[in-house]
Amino acid sequence: MSSARFDPCGPLRGEYLAPADKSISHRAALFGAMADQPVTIRNYLRSADTMSTLDALLSLGAGVDESGDDLTIRGVGLRAALEATGGRIDVGNAGTLLRLLPGWLAGQTGGDWSLDGDESIRRRPVDRVVEPLRRMGGAVSARDGRFTPLVVRGGELTGIDYELPVPSAQVKSCVLIAGMLASGSTSITEASMSRDHTERLMRRARVPFRREGLKATVSQVDELELEEITVPGDPSSAAFMVAAACLVPDSRLLVGGLGLNWTRTGFFRIAQRMGAVIVGDLERPGTFADDEPVGDLDVAHGPLEGTEVAPEEVPLAIDELTLVALLGAFAEGDTVVRGAAELRHKESDRIAAVVGALGALGADIEDAEDGFVVHGTGEPLRGGAMDSHGDHRLAMLGAVGGLASREGVEVRGMEAAGVSYPAFEQDLAELLG
Ligand code: S3P
Repeated sequence: MSSARFDPCGPLRGEYLAPADKSISHRAALFGAMADQPVTIRNYLRSADTMSTLDALLSLGAGVDESGDDLTIRGVGLRAALEATGGRIDVGNAGTLLRLLPGWLAGQTGGDWSLDGDESIRRRPVDRVVEPLRRMGGAVSARDGRFTPLVVRGGELTGIDYELPVPSAQVKSCVLIAGMLASGSTSITEASMSRDHTERLMRRARVPFRREGLKATVSQVDELELEEITVPGDPSSAAFMVAAACLVPDSRLLVGGLGLNWTRTGFFRIAQRMGAVIVGDLERPGTFADDEPVGDLDVAHGPLEGTEVAPEEVPLAIDELTLVALLGAFAEGDTVVRGAAELRHKESDRIAAVVGALGALGADIEDAEDGFVVHGTGEPLRGGAMDSHGDHRLAMLGAVGGLASREGVEVRGMEAAGVSYPAFEQDLAELLG
């Protein structure tokens, strides 16, 4: 485990390009593997998680040709995945791969697969995908009904009409992908909107798909029509640099080529409400295009005040809620996040981890079963030492907290950042000049 120190620093300045979007990269590779003709993916993310996806797809018979930042996937078609490695698939730390892939595998004409991953993956629930896939007739089982190894046997699926108990883009995507293989049509309804990258990609691939409010419906299809996908910059990765620019005095950051899909930009809207100076063309709520919108943000340091995050904002900022806590620790007044029990099932228990970490760094923060409250005074964090718990987003949060703190922060387990953002420390050093 490697430790890294992040001391109080001068401003972040300059132009910044975030790494490619992790969610979209996973989906682009998966859709490429499901296609009959080669699909070129421009700006594919190279990180531990998205490499796990490429390895899994290779073991299912897909080909991957790399050239610079681009890659071409030679797919096996929708119904011909192989069991090349005896059906064992190692998803590493990648929850998205673990939840999306079974949707494809359950509808294969034959084959047996067993999905497993690292220590963190082994603690994350998969019953959320087992349940709907079984309702579709899928032969899927999990250890204790809930954890990996997740065992999937290919077979015939039938369309269902499913109501998601908790908004989750991963579960929604799994069901929609299975729906492309299932007889009839498959619908899924969420209580509030989660990220919609899978739906946009389906429309681009000319899959019969429609959306009515919070209900998404897909019909069985023979093949995907897809040639090229360009992956925008990841708003969840950029959020760390944006938060740093908001917190470190005199900072001014110009973020370019960023994905601004409104289902992903909840954090920027919450931060704006806290008084953060973030200017840009965020996509409007309710927009549903085939393509992913891309744009720029202009970010500057300024004073912040506490805010309350509404329940429907939770899925739109799910991976950035720990950063909302960090901003809250520097803001004046209370910052309240509730209705976010899902955070307990991420790469770490992010409620326990962020309350522990920010508390150790001097913040006044309390946990709740489904969230946290930060009592800010408008003063910078003291600093100290914290643990990433092997969670990439906590490692990067500690780094940002350190730069803006009074005494600096030592982050134990900084290497976790490589799961989504291998060049994080390098990019930070460049912006600090
Ligand atoms: C993701 C969806 C979210 C998010 C995760 C990536 C995706 O998870 O937290 O990092 O790519 O679909 P849930 O679907 O479990 O909310």
